[in-house]
Amino acid sequence: MTTPIYYVNDAPHIGHAYTTVTADALARWHRLHGEDVWFLTGTDEHGLKVAQVAEKNGVTPREWADRTVERFKDTWTLLDISNDDFIRTTEPRHYAAVEKLLQACRDAGDIELGVYEGLYCVACEAYYTEAELNDGNCPIHDRPAEAVTEENYFFKLSRFEQRLLDWYEAHPDAITPETRRNEVLGFIKQGLQDFSISRTSLSWGVPLPWDPAHVTYVWFDALTNYITAIGYESDNERFVDWWGACRHLIGKDIIRFHCVYWPAMLLSAGLEPPPNWFVHGWLLVGGEKMSKTRLNQIAPADLVETFGVDGYRYHFLRDPSFGPDSDFSYEGMVVRYNTDLANNLGNLLARVATVVAKKCGGIGPAPSARSPLAQVAATAFETASRAWAEVQPNVALEATWRIVRETNAHLEANEPWKAEPGPAVDAVMGDALEALRLVAVLASPAIPSTAQAIWERLGLAGLVADERLPESAVWGGYPGGLPVVKGESLFPRVQA
Ligand code: MSP
Repeated sequence: MTTPIYYVNDAPHIGHAYTTVTADALARWHRLHGEDVWFLTGTDEHGLKVAQVAEKNGVTPREWADRTVERFKDTWTLLDISNDDFIRTTEPRHYAAVEKLLQACRDAGDIELGVYEGLYCVACEAYYTEAELNDGNCPIHDRPAEAVTEENYFFKLSRFEQRLLDWYEAHPDAITPETRRNEVLGFIKQGLQDFSISRTSLSWGVPLPWDPAHVTYVWFDALTNYITAIGYESDNERFVDWWGACRHLIGKDIIRFHCVYWPAMLLSAGLEPPPNWFVHGWLLVGGEKMSKTRLNQIAPADLVETFGVDGYRYHFLRDPSFGPDSDFSYEGMVVRYNTDLANNLGNLLARVATVVAKKCGGIGPAPSARSPLAQVAATAFETASRAWAEVQPNVALEATWRIVRETNAHLEANEPWKAEPGPAVDAVMGDALEALRLVAVLASPAIPSTAQAIWERLGLAGLVADERLPESAVWGGYPGGLPVVKGESLFPRVQA
């Protein structure tokens, strides 16, 4: 499971965190099934964009990168991101892999020297044709592209049209959603132009192994991170093992690099392209893309302060639909937090613990096998499983919260708080505790530390992350006879 590696020109914002939190939840969901998961993220540290910002700040690019990478690492620690590796493109292991991939493409005859005259957008680190620009401005960043003439090495992308089309024909499910697949196919069918893979105007990069006066184009360098980290250059067995299972999560802005350049580079080097790309839309703020110049970037830490880590994670998994663009709204976040987390889940636990204390002597009763909630839970698990597999976390969480809502409704229908202690109350409370156990397991990829807290308050031992699906989703896992603890409110209400 990979995220894009983020440019270190600036600190991370909620757009970067959106991809990373989604990848994290997916990684955790797969781990719950006992699958081996290797979750990779990291930083993209070379290129003109980073060199320019370093210069502006009066430090070397390396100093700038060393400083900024910490802000990414801190953000991922804050957000409880469970990455297994963090790759920086300035690491020696990465230089070795880039050199090897370059050499393989060169040996295949797909890299040649040429002269380039073109229009370059530094923010994209990409060339554009006149037709692609709006009045000379980059279509993504809306700022002028610069005229550049350079002697560069070129990757002969034009040779790969048919091979790419054939590959996509043989791998119809490679890109999700399908609209993005069509976009990629359309782009390839328009005809592909060679792209330059080296720069002489810049020294901040990986020198070409056969001509060190050139440094490697930042995108060729960056894409290679995915294979560096699993041992392309250092451990072939490990590399082969992981590569066939690779799943890339990317934003729609970088689809051309990932779904056209990258598979062509791999095919040239005699490697198979990765089997899956999941492409998501932009997270907008006030209908606009976040940018430094618009001053509308939001740092994850600012929201975590109000909503907590799991409140943060829940929102960005539950609110946007993975695929289209979606608009972030603070007001919307407050409403969803108060409804789903404070009222529905938080209150359910508090209520259950209170009644168990009053009517069951603080010891949680066992669930009944014929609870009406059993079917609710089974259906929710089925829907959630399908949704996680299709990278639709919002659908998966919606399904999971159906258990929460139905359990609250079940309590209200039975009003155990009004009844005399006895088997009837025990039955209702046992079912509610079992429902909470299931919710803790199924929601744990999204809200890991809260899920663990619920687990402990139910009196269950060990780690919820050590549970295994599908076994743990079978109704009846709560053994009963455990001390139930109310504790502090899980999700204190937030004022709008
Ligand atoms: N360094 C390259 C990626 C190289 S991958 C081999 C890059 N970095 S980036 O920092 O500019 O953005 C990377 C990714 O961050 C985007 O593809 C997307 O996944 C995520 N996002 C950045 N801004 C975003 C939004 N406003 N909304 C959603 N995702 C966004 O491109």
